[in-house]
Amino acid sequence: MSSQSKPIILLSRQEIEATVRRLAAEITKDYRNRNPVLISVLKGSFIFMADLVRLLDFPLEVDFMRLSSYGRSSRTSGKVRVVQDIGSAIKGRDIIVIEDIVDTGLTTSFLLGYLREKNPASLRLSALTEKPSRRKVSVNVDYLGFTVPDKFLVGYGLDWDEKFRYLPDICYVEVE
Ligand code: PRP
Repeated sequence: MSSQSKPIILLSRQEIEATVRRLAAEITKDYRNRNPVLISVLKGSFIFMADLVRLLDFPLEVDFMRLSSYGRSSRTSGKVRVVQDIGSAIKGRDIIVIEDIVDTGLTTSFLLGYLREKNPASLRLSALTEKPSRRKVSVNVDYLGFTVPDKFLVGYGLDWDEKFRYLPDICYVEVE
């Protein structure tokens, strides 16, 4: 894998901002009086989470999990591991999982099952992007930003071998 491939913009920062605003409005409508816990799945969703919560002007809590199935590879291993668990008790709470991308669905499907066992009052998913062409397991995205083509995406939190997370636009790179 070469790291020389130049990222090409797929979704501009302006498009992303407008979409995050739309998602924030949808979430506000449903959760304004529910004091939800938003769980960001690291590392990829850190920018989406940060932008989203600053548009949610009502009481909420945040927590973070780190999962891994890709490691430093561009292909999923298919085995999802909890690298860092949430710190808060979520029994009886309204939970929104915040993801940057649902690709094969293996990570999110595992995570939703894992959290469901902790008996939250409700459990929903917001994903900034989803790539339906690569789906291996069915996952319902309650608050979806963009449907994206089968390209290797970087930027706005997404990486290629830990590179490019800092780019403000969502871009794609050619992966050999
Ligand atoms: C990415 C992304 C999702 C997952 C989606 O995480 O953040 O969690 O892959 O892929 P899937 O639907 O095929 O399971 P990754 O394991 O690359 O870790 P990262 O967020 O730290 O980059």
